Amino acid sequence: MKDSDLKSRIEKLKRTKDAIILAHNYQLPEIYDVADFVGDSFELAMKARETQAKIIIFCGVHFMAESAKILNPEKKVLIPDLNAGCFLADMVTAESLQAKKKTFPAAAVVAYVNSSAAVKAETDVCCTSANAIEICRKLPERQIIFVPDENLGEWVAENLPEKEIILWAGNCYVHSKILVEKIQEAQKSHPQAIILAHPESPKKVRDLAEKVLGTGGMLKFVKNSTADEFLIATESGMLEKLKRATQNKKFWSLGGECLNMKKITLPKVLNSLEKDEYEIKVDEKTAQKARRSLERMVELTER
Ligand code: 13P
Ligand code: SF4
Repeated sequence: MKDSDLKSRIEKLKRTKDAIILAHNYQLPEIYDVADFVGDSFELAMKARETQAKIIIFCGVHFMAESAKILNPEKKVLIPDLNAGCFLADMVTAESLQAKKKTFPAAAVVAYVNSSAAVKAETDVCCTSANAIEICRKLPERQIIFVPDENLGEWVAENLPEKEIILWAGNCYVHSKILVEKIQEAQKSHPQAIILAHPESPKKVRDLAEKVLGTGGMLKFVKNSTADEFLIATESGMLEKLKRATQNKKFWSLGGECLNMKKITLPKVLNSLEKDEYEIKVDEKTAQKARRSLERMVELTER
């Protein structure tokens, strides 16, 4: 089926089934076209929490759809490909975190939303790239176990010297592969360009950036900036978002593709709508504990 036919069938089914499509900034351009909202992890969680639609089709990776289900348990949450996971989220398990908590009994536990429901259930509060510093700053505890991203955790620690951040050995392969040499080369070709880096990037990349921002923060920065050339150190799909939101600005990506994000395609979205596949389920006991952590994140985030 042609993309245009797939899109019109998706639009029609969305209306008849009262479904909303939420998509992450790293999704494919054709997914942007059928989405009702495209945003970062925090914005998507807020949309999922507030929507009145009966069905949420989540175009992103599994932990995002799972968070949507936890925040809005009455809704049917579907992910078009159940295998769209996040390798970073898989780097921490509930059992390994329980063991760490025993070593640091006085520490607060903060989970990046890139984690499973079972891990979130073991934590005091969640955070995203958009609010990680704010959340950690507002916690009364000085000592914080931060899972699973060591780069994001290290960036939080750099910004909050008053806290002791206990890092976890986890990272995102997309951001870890961003090379300093590639940035320096790109700078030679585009000397006026401003470098923006996602906090999941390694320190040596963050140190070269004008600003360290999550994907939502990058969008705001670019829109408000008088500059018109940018080098973007995050997953390459972000360029689509920046290009669609601006005029006469130029962007070059320093990052590669997240294979899991790209598993979501138009035929799979249509299948999802037609067959109500694949439904996200979280057992209620785990969901209740994980919800506390996600809701505390919402309470602590200034909007
Ligand atoms: P954002 O919340 O900044 O969109 O990041 C999500 C993510 O998975 C980055 O790799
Ligand atoms: Fe996970 Fe990295 Fe993909 Fe983000 S870009 S979803 S952190 S693997």
